[in-house]
Amino acid sequence: MRIAAMLLLLSLPGSLTHAQPANADRKWWKEAIVYQIYPRSFKDSDGDGIGDLKGIISKLDYIKSLGVTAVWLNPIYSSPNDDNGYDVSDYRNIMKDFGTMEDFDQLLKGLHARDIRLIMDLVVNHSSDEHEWFRQSRSSRSSPYRNYYHWWNAGNGKPPYRYSLFDVNHDAWCYDSLTDAYYLHYFSRKQPDLNWENPQVRREVYDIMRFWADKGIDGFRLDAFQFVAKDTTFPAFPTGFEKNFTRYYAMQGNLHGYLQEMNKEVLSRYDVMSVAEGAGNNFEDAHNLVDAGRKELNMAYAFDGVDIPKANGYSVLHLKEVFSRWDSAFAQDGWLSIFLANHDQARMVSRFGNDKPPYRALSSKMLSTFILTMRGTPYYYNGDELGMTNAGFSKIEDYRDVQTLNEYRHKKTSGDSLEQFIKTAQFSARDNGRTPFQWDAGGQAGFTTGTPWVKVNPNYTTINAAIQEKEPNSCLNFFRQLVQLRKNNPVLVYGSYRLLDKDNPYVYAYTRTLEGKKMLILLNFTAQASTVHTDIALGKATMLLDNYGTGPGGNVLRPYEAVIYALP
Ligand code: NOJ
Repeated sequence: MRIAAMLLLLSLPGSLTHAQPANADRKWWKEAIVYQIYPRSFKDSDGDGIGDLKGIISKLDYIKSLGVTAVWLNPIYSSPNDDNGYDVSDYRNIMKDFGTMEDFDQLLKGLHARDIRLIMDLVVNHSSDEHEWFRQSRSSRSSPYRNYYHWWNAGNGKPPYRYSLFDVNHDAWCYDSLTDAYYLHYFSRKQPDLNWENPQVRREVYDIMRFWADKGIDGFRLDAFQFVAKDTTFPAFPTGFEKNFTRYYAMQGNLHGYLQEMNKEVLSRYDVMSVAEGAGNNFEDAHNLVDAGRKELNMAYAFDGVDIPKANGYSVLHLKEVFSRWDSAFAQDGWLSIFLANHDQARMVSRFGNDKPPYRALSSKMLSTFILTMRGTPYYYNGDELGMTNAGFSKIEDYRDVQTLNEYRHKKTSGDSLEQFIKTAQFSARDNGRTPFQWDAGGQAGFTTGTPWVKVNPNYTTINAAIQEKEPNSCLNFFRQLVQLRKNNPVLVYGSYRLLDKDNPYVYAYTRTLEGKKMLILLNFTAQASTVHTDIALGKATMLLDNYGTGPGGNVLRPYEAVIYALP
C-alpha cells in the first residue's frame, strides 16, 4: 500500500511532489506582527501614576507608526491587583484604575480604524478570590458555586502537596476555616484555581469569551491554560516534583477535550486568533494544541527560547539549537510564536543582548532583527523598540511584583541569602520589564504627571521615544524599518528556514526561502568581531537592512552586527 502510494507520487508532476507544507496556507494571524502593551506601564492619562486605557488611546498614532498589525493587551478586567490584573474579579468589566467600558470601546474603535487588531488576555485557570463565584464558593460546602473551585475538606487530613508559583510557603493549598477546607491556588492565595471539570464553569468561560468576541475583539491569549485540567483525586506526586512541576501540571486530563469544546462553542464562530501560554512538555504536546486538523488553538508560546539566558550568560550555540529545533518540528504542521520578552521577563536587551552603553542600541536592534525575520508570528514587547533596559532595583522596597515579594519573604523565613536574591532579581525579576514606558526626557519619562506605581528607569533621560523619533538610525526607527520589511516580504513569514554555519559560537546565520525568493540573515550575538562561514557569495547579495547604518562589513561581522540580504 505504502509502495503504491510512493509510485503514484513519483508519477505526478513535479509541482505536487514539491508541495507546500500543510501550514503554508495564508492566515492573518500568521502574518500579524503583535505588539504587547502592558497597560499599567504604558501611559497614564489622569495623573494617578497608573497607565490606563485613555493613555493608550492617546498613543494610538504612535502604535500605528510602528507598523504593527495587532496589539495584545495584558488583562484590563476588574481586579484587586494582587497580580496586576491576572486576578480577575469581574470578567465583563474594566479595572477602575484603567478606565471604563466606554474607554474600551473607544480604544477598540481607534485600533480598528487604524487596521490594528486587538488580542485580549483570557485568565481562566484561576479567578480572583474576590470574584463573586469564589465568594459564593467559599461561603458554604453546599453552595451551588462550591464546585467552581477545587476544595479539599480538612476532615480528610492534609491534601497531598502541590507547589504554588507565587505563595510565600510555595504551598498551593490554602486553609479556609470558614468551611474547614483547603482550596487550590497554583499562583497566589488570591488566585484560586477554577475547576474545569465542572461544565458550568466552562459554560461561564465561553459566555465571557462570546461577550468580548461580540464586541469585535480579534483574539485571545489564554493565560496559563496548559494547567487548567487537573487530576482531581489529587494523587501524591514524588518528592521534589516542584523542580519540574510543568511535567506534573501541564497538559493533564481532558485539556484537549476542553479546547475542542471551546473551539466549537466560540473560536470557530468568530474570526479570532488564539494563542496559549505554555506549550506543554514536548513537541507532541505543542502540536496537539495547534495542529489545524485538531480544531483547538492557532498557536502556543513555548518557553524553551525565552528561558535560555541566565545571570552568568548563555551559549549562542544553545540558542541556535533551540530555535532551529522548534522550527524544524513545526516545518510542516502547526505554527510558532517568536518572542524574546514579555511582561514576565526582564528586558530583552539586558538578558539576550548587552545593555552597556556601547552595545545597547546595536544589540537591541540585532535582537529585533532576529524576532522579525524568523518563521512564526512575532510577539514584540512594548519598550523593546526603544531598547529599554532592566531597572535592576537594588532595594526590595522598589519591587512591586507579588512573585518577587513573596519569594523574598520565603527566602527570609528559610534563612537564604537575601543579598543573593536581590542580585538575581536585578537580572531577572519581572518588574524589570514593567517600569514605565519612556516617552520623553520630562518628569517621570512623560509617563505620568503623578507618582508612578513603580519607579521609572533613571536612564529615561537618554533612552526615550522623543529622542529616538529624531534619529534616523535609532532603535525605534530601525524597528519600524524591520516591520515594513517583514510586511512587504512574505518570504519572512512563510519562507522555509535553514540554519547556516551551525557550529559558529558567535554568529547566528540563516536563510529564509519561498518560491524563488531568498533572504540571508546574519546576526552576531556577541561583542566580538566574528567571521561567518558560508559558501554564499555576499558580493552578489543585495543588502536590505543593517543595524550599523553604515553598510555591512561583509563576512566579518562587527560586535552585535545584524544584516539582512536578498539573495539572487
Ligand atoms: C502568566 C502571566 O503571564 C503572568 O503574568 C501571571 O502572573 C500568571 N500567568 C498567573 O496568571
